[in-house]
Amino acid sequence: MTLQNMMAQHMTPRQQVQSLLDFIDASPSPWHVVETLAQRLNACGFRRLAENQVWSLDASGRYYVVRDDSSIIAFATGQNPLPSSGFKIIAAHTDSPGLRVKPNPCMASDNLLRLAVEVYGGPILATFSDRDLGLAGRIAYKATDGSLASRLLRSAEPLLRLPNLAIHMNRSVNEDGLKFNKQTELPLLFAASDSLADGERFASWLQSASDLSPEQILGWELSVYDTQKGGFWGDDQAFYANGQIDNLASCHAGLSALLAASEQETTTNTLVCAFFDHEEIGSESLKGAAGSFLPDVLQRIADGMDCKSGDYTRALANSLMISTDMAHAYQPNFPNAYESNHKIIVNQGPVVKINHNHRYASTCLSEALFVDICQEIGVPLQKYVHRGDLACGSTLGPIASARLGIKTVDVGNPMWAMHSARESAGVDDHAYMIRALSHFFAR
Ligand code: CO
Repeated sequence: MTLQNMMAQHMTPRQQVQSLLDFIDASPSPWHVVETLAQRLNACGFRRLAENQVWSLDASGRYYVVRDDSSIIAFATGQNPLPSSGFKIIAAHTDSPGLRVKPNPCMASDNLLRLAVEVYGGPILATFSDRDLGLAGRIAYKATDGSLASRLLRSAEPLLRLPNLAIHMNRSVNEDGLKFNKQTELPLLFAASDSLADGERFASWLQSASDLSPEQILGWELSVYDTQKGGFWGDDQAFYANGQIDNLASCHAGLSALLAASEQETTTNTLVCAFFDHEEIGSESLKGAAGSFLPDVLQRIADGMDCKSGDYTRALANSLMISTDMAHAYQPNFPNAYESNHKIIVNQGPVVKINHNHRYASTCLSEALFVDICQEIGVPLQKYVHRGDLACGSTLGPIASARLGIKTVDVGNPMWAMHSARESAGVDDHAYMIRALSHFFAR
């Protein structure tokens, strides 16, 4: 994707979504997501900072920081004094639920070789069946100078498959639903077993995909992904489909807003995009939204902008965060799954998420912030409430705002089939969200 491609404000909604689809296709794992984002930021003049180095920040500087390869915070320092203007933050997550390969994955029997997988987060397991699956992730190795390093790898071709049982052996599948036992029925077909010893076949795939020798390879994290590229569908092509729309659509919209703001020579406020791994498993990790990454980076930005003792807390008190994660669009085949007064319609605008048990961070005042943003630029807005008799999901908004004491609103775009291997959403909504987030940063 070129520099111009990410200057999404000047693009049509269709072009903006094509840019999103390209981003997702280039980013089949959270580690790839951060690598892709870093490439975009480099191309737009952002400089990478390392947490283990001394920082010296310029006024109107553009920077980003990566923690453990799969969480990233990008920021632009503003002209306004930080203690009185605070940070403007857009938060989202880089991970998606799915399947991860186990450390000793090989299962050879009956002339077939399968790979054992662990379920990551809460995917709709059945949607991974009968799809052209690939592997993507990172591998840890010992470099020639003796240091420990990691690099990314991905399979170029479809590599794995979870074939369904034929209906002739599963006669009640359409009445009872398609179910897979997580231990016994999820191993993925990988190869016809041959004379190679158990495990060697996968090890040799790993070596050639990573370009490392067997003795160099010390560990790896590999995610299963759907190799089918994203695309448009529907009459008028008003909708799009891909894996990982939750939550790469929000990362893409947030970054588009930051890059649009950074086109100006100076920004008034200090703008931050914080994209975290591990949201799908609760955010409690060194790089998750419940961890120290965002507080550490905000503190160091404040230090770098000459904040005195106490100024950092003032800055937090004056800060605003928009936590962006996808929302459940109304599917008319299942009317009983929704709160009837809060049906969220695809292509009718972004959603504010409200839950008084604080599964979402929105309060009426933070909600008002997003309503006001949308009203000022004529973006339609919807309000989501989960059915009272269904457990409401959550996101990183309540976690990050509790950790930092920053006023936060949870928003997101409507989508169908959240946590399916193939999710879908509306073209217009993505453009609306980019406009709303850009206005948040610009005003
Ligand atoms: Co999500």
